[in-house]
Amino acid sequence: APGHAKHHLVWLDEESGGKLNRAYYLSTAPEFFPVIVKALREAELNYDEDVDVRCIIEKPFGVDLESARELQRVVEHVFREQQVYRIDHYLGKETVQNVMAFRFANFMFEPVWNRNYIDHIQITAAEDIGIGSRAGYYDASGALRDLVQNHMLQLLTLVCMEPPASFEADKVRDEKVKVLESITPPTPEEVRRDTVRAQYTSGVEGGEEVHGYLDEDGVPEDSRTETYAALRLEVHNWRWAGVPIFLRTGKRLTRKVTEIAVQLKPVPHLAFQSHGSVGVQPNQLVLTMQPNEGVSLSLGAKIPGSSMRIRPVNMEFLYGSAFMSQSPEAYERLILDAMRGEATLFTRDDEVIAQWSIIDPILKAWAADDMPLHTYPSGSAGPEAADELIAPRRWRGL
Ligand code: BG6
Repeated sequence: APGHAKHHLVWLDEESGGKLNRAYYLSTAPEFFPVIVKALREAELNYDEDVDVRCIIEKPFGVDLESARELQRVVEHVFREQQVYRIDHYLGKETVQNVMAFRFANFMFEPVWNRNYIDHIQITAAEDIGIGSRAGYYDASGALRDLVQNHMLQLLTLVCMEPPASFEADKVRDEKVKVLESITPPTPEEVRRDTVRAQYTSGVEGGEEVHGYLDEDGVPEDSRTETYAALRLEVHNWRWAGVPIFLRTGKRLTRKVTEIAVQLKPVPHLAFQSHGSVGVQPNQLVLTMQPNEGVSLSLGAKIPGSSMRIRPVNMEFLYGSAFMSQSPEAYERLILDAMRGEATLFTRDDEVIAQWSIIDPILKAWAADDMPLHTYPSGSAGPEAADELIAPRRWRGL
């Protein structure tokens, strides 16, 4: 009850001998977000002239473009944007922040970080787990809302953004929004051509037989919810025009791996072809978020011996061996940042709306059900249709 909360805050202030900043953390079922926000205003707990008042909002921020706009209208009626901290826990991960460190603290990658040298980018967020006991949430959500709209689009913006002038919240977020706004929301034909959805069937995961999605507890037997999504997007700007960016995510895949792979173009001329250098591959730079956190760069190297034969080798940096200290949990970092009033790692209003603008047409086309819902066995690398989506290129092995 708001009256009670107010009373309690006054009591806490008295106990601590001074007035404390307030941070309200909304980690409830999403239908209560607007209810709580309105109640905070009714109790006049949304602003205090002596201290900072902040509102942290968990995901999901809306379930589509319209509901996100609606929630935003409620929130902005009660709080100023500077008071609002929308959580995307991927931004709290050290390895995700390292994408910016890697790009903007090193000079050597920037000259090749564009359409002249990069062939394509693939972003993977594969999970081995199923939906566990979350059918109630997941069946209404699906992979596109659960992971692509938020976490994967965040990864995409960090790889594609221009260097910000500083790490200050709005400077970074301005650049991210520009990337999102350069992705044209797909037309229904583009959705049919550039997206794949699928659902897992039974199979073997970690040596054990596991159920298909439709046999999971709480999932309706005729559910059309996707547990896998693959997309081809393009950022229409000078840096990225013509570079396809492929995203894929799914439950019950071969293993858990979150990574961004940047594949460079092939060398323009290969001098040793006649000597049977079958192993020459374009350079690939892989930023691994989890589980083997690090960065690796594939290079062509000569196989020892009397002929000029080449094969790819890896140059690797691993967090585990380079830094002995343990990384803080994503949530530790984010909650601390919210308490300190540091908003760089939170999603701004225009950012979340831009993310939904890209996803909304896909949701609508999928809901109209005029494209196939493929299947893939649990424990596999996903549906074959996703291989066709990326062809003639290939997904990295899981
Ligand atoms: C959550 C999704 O946001 O992210 C889950 O709701 C998913 O379905 C999880 O499993 C993945 O997060 P992480 O940190 O394990 O990669």
